Amino acid sequence: MLHATCYMKLLVTGGAGFIGSNFIHYILKKYPDYEVVNLDVLTYAGNLENLKDLENNSRYRFVKGDIADYALVNKLAGEVDTIVHFAAESHVDRSILDSKAFIETNIVGTHALLEAARGNGNKRFHHISTDEVFGSLETGDPAFNEKTPYDPRSPYSASKASSDHLVRSYFHTFGLPITISNCSNNYGPYHFPEKIIPLFITNLIEGKKVPLYGNGMNVRDWLHVEDHCRAIDMIIHNGVIGDTYCIGGNAEKTNKEITYKILELMGKGEESIEFVADRKGHDQRYAIDFSKIKQELGWEPTIAFEDGLQQTMQWYQDNPEWWTNIKNGSYQEYYKKQYGE
Ligand code: NAD
Ligand code: TYD
Repeated sequence: MLHATCYMKLLVTGGAGFIGSNFIHYILKKYPDYEVVNLDVLTYAGNLENLKDLENNSRYRFVKGDIADYALVNKLAGEVDTIVHFAAESHVDRSILDSKAFIETNIVGTHALLEAARGNGNKRFHHISTDEVFGSLETGDPAFNEKTPYDPRSPYSASKASSDHLVRSYFHTFGLPITISNCSNNYGPYHFPEKIIPLFITNLIEGKKVPLYGNGMNVRDWLHVEDHCRAIDMIIHNGVIGDTYCIGGNAEKTNKEITYKILELMGKGEESIEFVADRKGHDQRYAIDFSKIKQELGWEPTIAFEDGLQQTMQWYQDNPEWWTNIKNGSYQEYYKKQYGE
């Protein structure tokens, strides 16, 4: 079932980050009349260079601000019809070092947005979450699905689980028209080089080693960001209100497999691997059963991991300025130059 084309004005939160910026590009390209307001506070993970090409696009507006600013989000929610909520502190290792911002953004910030959606006549609200809320699988365990009980094990995943519960509570209590998606590990262009795939690719381009945690046998299910954006598009147009959708890449790989694949693509040998101390509480395996979204909305991943990884490596090779500006810190000056603050 496809909706007749309708006009949408979207408030995208966290649109200067990895998935949010890919989503804004995707939506503005696919729907020639849609408008997007991007609310982002520009933490270390927010990078306006991801959206450089949209600066003069009349259908796009950037607002620098915090999702936990109740007055600001209340005002912005009044200007749109749909909220697509990506903004989060998203890196597990940072949540182990200091989790305060994870509570403030992922929990309090989500609450502020829910209140804003409710206070403006129950705006349509889509919440982006993660498979990490379901905990950790062992080899042979069935993959996570929409009925898997929550069992978060890092401060990051606990804060995301908390936000999911809040979102669902606003559906049951206030009738807020919500949907939630829990997806597996994304990869692709504009991925901040602190996550395994972009970190390893850029380290190798720089002639550095790649730090593999523990024995390298932890498993993640890799989803190309473009396939993810298409799934969100389908959910915001055709998803069942109140429902959750699990989105996976059908590409379970150990970190060692990923590392060897990247080394091979880049013509490097295993002497470039440095085995380092394991992450505290390191979840062993994530895997997603995406049969619900496949059956109900006709979505499935279309980008094979090997192709997606090759394209991603090429993107980092073709865009050295983008990631060197991050690695040397100068990307944070870009906003000041553009907006004069
Ligand atoms: P990211 O870290 O690349 O980007 C997060 C963005 O949110 C940044 O632009 C940052 O500036 C912004 N932000 C942070 N705190 C904010 C605040 N208080 N107010 C306004 N903006 C704020 O994250 P990502 O990888 O693009 O992830 C987006 C969403 O998808 C997150 O909710 C994350 O939990 C979820 N997710 C990500 C993955 C993945 O593999 N990257 C997998 C599953 C789910
Ligand atoms: P990451 O990209 O941080 O995503 P997540 O923790 O959300 O799954 O990590 C993916 C896997 O890669 C995870 O098992 C930890 C491992 N990893 C390394 O081995 N070395 C690294 O430098 C990083 C960042 C991650």
